[in-house]
Amino acid sequence: MDLVGIPHTSRPCVSLNETATSTAPRLTVLVPTRNEREVVPLLLDALSPEFAALDAEILFVDDSDDDTPAVAAARAARCPLPVRLLHRPPGQRAGGLSGAVIAGARYALGTWVLVMDADLQHPPEAAAALARTALGHDADVVVGTRRAGTGSSGGLDGVTRSLVSSGSALLAKAFFPRRLATVTDPMSGLFAFRTDRIDLDRLNPLGFKILLEILVRHPSARVAEVAYTFAPRAAGRSKASLREGITYLRHLARLRRNQQPGSRAGALGRLLAFGLIGLSGIGVNTAALWLFHDVLNAPPLWGAALATQVSTAWNFALIELLVYRATTHGTRTGRGIRFFAMNNLLLLGRLPVLAWLIGLGLGVLTANALTLVLLFVLRFLFSDRLIYRAGREDREDTRRDPVRTLVDPAAPVGTPSAARGGHKRSQYLPHRYDIAGRVTIASQVRLPELEFFRAQWVAPGECDIAVRVGDIGRRGPHPRAGLTELTRSEQGRPASLRYEEQLGRLGANFRVDLGHPLSVEVSPLLARSPHVVYTNIIEALLRFVVVPRGWMLLHSACLDFDGTGVMLSALTDTGKTATVLRLLREHGGRFLSDDMTLVDAAGHAVCFPKPLTISAHTLRAVSADDLTAKEWFKLSAQSRLHSREGRSFALALARLNLPIMSINALTQLLVPPPKYAVDRLVPCTIGTTTEVSDLFVIERGAPGIGDMPYEEAVRRLLGNTEDAYGFPPFRYLAPALTIDGLDHTRLRVREREILAGFLSGIRVRTLASDCFGWADEIPALLGRERLDGIPLPDGHRPEQPHWDWQFDSPLALSGGTRTPRAGGPP
Ligand code: GDD
Ligand code: MN
Repeated sequence: MDLVGIPHTSRPCVSLNETATSTAPRLTVLVPTRNEREVVPLLLDALSPEFAALDAEILFVDDSDDDTPAVAAARAARCPLPVRLLHRPPGQRAGGLSGAVIAGARYALGTWVLVMDADLQHPPEAAAALARTALGHDADVVVGTRRAGTGSSGGLDGVTRSLVSSGSALLAKAFFPRRLATVTDPMSGLFAFRTDRIDLDRLNPLGFKILLEILVRHPSARVAEVAYTFAPRAAGRSKASLREGITYLRHLARLRRNQQPGSRAGALGRLLAFGLIGLSGIGVNTAALWLFHDVLNAPPLWGAALATQVSTAWNFALIELLVYRATTHGTRTGRGIRFFAMNNLLLLGRLPVLAWLIGLGLGVLTANALTLVLLFVLRFLFSDRLIYRAGREDREDTRRDPVRTLVDPAAPVGTPSAARGGHKRSQYLPHRYDIAGRVTIASQVRLPELEFFRAQWVAPGECDIAVRVGDIGRRGPHPRAGLTELTRSEQGRPASLRYEEQLGRLGANFRVDLGHPLSVEVSPLLARSPHVVYTNIIEALLRFVVVPRGWMLLHSACLDFDGTGVMLSALTDTGKTATVLRLLREHGGRFLSDDMTLVDAAGHAVCFPKPLTISAHTLRAVSADDLTAKEWFKLSAQSRLHSREGRSFALALARLNLPIMSINALTQLLVPPPKYAVDRLVPCTIGTTTEVSDLFVIERGAPGIGDMPYEEAVRRLLGNTEDAYGFPPFRYLAPALTIDGLDHTRLRVREREILAGFLSGIRVRTLASDCFGWADEIPALLGRERLDGIPLPDGHRPEQPHWDWQFDSPLALSGGTRTPRAGGPP
């Protein structure tokens, strides 16, 4: 045994075998032990096959008085994984089991630490499933749960022990309802955490419940759960005791006392200030109503509407001055607009109630005041959370999403409801799309975004993605949205994932079966909102379906001038669409895409002409005489709702525990997004394929142009593409995907390779403008001779798009025939 020198502590941590790796492992399996000589050999034998492919090390943290270290060393000699042991001699065993975990975590080499018991009560295959979830998902803590899905605590000996266990879990949830809302088993001894997200110095170990300590001290840590069945102890004796129970109660009380200070008190103070201002506002409102109604004889509802404007102005001024002086979010004008919008929205809801109360015989002023009081709490919550984003500074937990994530490796995958026999719904898939001969989709829901790719015939059995409508999820409502992954694949049933929101079957739910075809089932609400189905589900799947075939769905616009492809990339709402429209109008050229483009590693681009989303500032590039007056008016209104403001409002909503996708679906159902085919907005031709030579990353700011280094370009464009998928539930959906045998991590690696190849022969430049002037600069930057230079004459009849297959050979896909640009990869 040789000592591994660890500088910052004097405790000896020894290697038990020679299997040391040259690079740091990704995962440290941390096993606390106290007098476990019987089970340690069994554990080592069982862990080896499960973790062999996972790039892991094993670290024992031992508080034994028996010969556990020697037994471990003897068996470690034939273990293929690196094994180390940290022994804590008597007198240095602070914190018991929890202390052991923290002490061990300081020696861990992995980016993840997975904690498990030595006695095989945590089955090694469950630990491995947990490890895979940790390494693949975007979470900070992954909890093994006995209390969700197929998880169970079967191996807990005795009724008493089971009762104590579920009782203490309930108690913890009562103490920390917010933090533990997405955690079903905060008492679990099987869990993993990301070492760089957990601050060990914040932890104050006591007794057995280290996971609880970690969760409560890190309010913003994102949690996912993996269901498992607690097995009976393999050998030896449990160290849980009545004393541990009492320690637990002390632990809870202490955690509660030391929780993040200020949050509730702050909110209470604000509520009080709000209350006083609101009271004065009701006075102002009543006085104004008296003036309008009693003095100027306005009808009561009109009077109330006008009075609301007066009191809104009053309240806003006072709130700005008195309540939120320090914590300002956004600009004052922006807040003012939202504040007035909110009050007028609430006014719409208030007027019928007011009319009803007046109808009951109440005086106008009394009825008005009554409705105002009723609205008070609602208003406070709305403006506190959404306009002032209060509490952001003193509450750390807002970065966390309110969605439960559960991986259930043992659950049987049920049959999709649409495929169950005897169902009234048809199986027929009337809408078929063939995306440039690369991906085929057959769907019961019309997908307007893919209209360009509508195909006469796609064999339903041979398509890549099938979309059906069905009843998904539990019947009744439930308190949280959740994503469940069923990873067991058996007898032809592929693994499956299910997203369910709070509203039961009425809400926006869907499931995806990961076979061939990828089978998507959407709830009836979603089926009525095809934009949401496409944007939030289908496009996310498409992104990964094309990757194993050598293509990437890159977030960028693409135009073709005389056979040369030019791409534009930008952050959302910079002005990309407007620039595309202006280039087409003023310089001709062919349109390939505005939002997403299919690209390969050899520099080819394939068109992806979705209808364009017209946001408020893009309106400038649409010339009014291309649209009818009605269309124009509708467009201006729609573009406001679906602007960046609208979107960031929706994202703020997503942080609250709300059925965000259902709200999104309903909004889009009521006010469809302003989407127009490109040739409705500007006369143009659609190009199908091109070879890209230039890419411009357009930005707002002081005018300037500069070459972007290759590495930076890859990073930026990948980040930009990622940004386009920022909307939930993509974050939960993506890590669960496995396509053509590639899991999410490998899909991403492959996608990056495609992008790196694509960019290797392309000149990437940043182009900044402070007056939306990108379209004026680009032609000159390309060299005029490469642009048509002549706008399309009026009445010009564009030619038919035709597919250009010439490069579509497997050889071309592997890339490498291009001359890399300066600074490109070797
Ligand atoms: N280093 C160290 N020091 N290890 C300890 C100590 C200690 O003071 N006490 C217990 N352990 C080790 C044991 O050797 C074993 O590997 C693991 O911690 C769990 O101990 P058990 O004695 O088997 O506990 P249990 O089965 O009753 O409790 C388990 O289930 C609980 C939930 O019901 C543990 O996983 C708990 O963490 C969990 O809360
Ligand atoms: Mn045990």
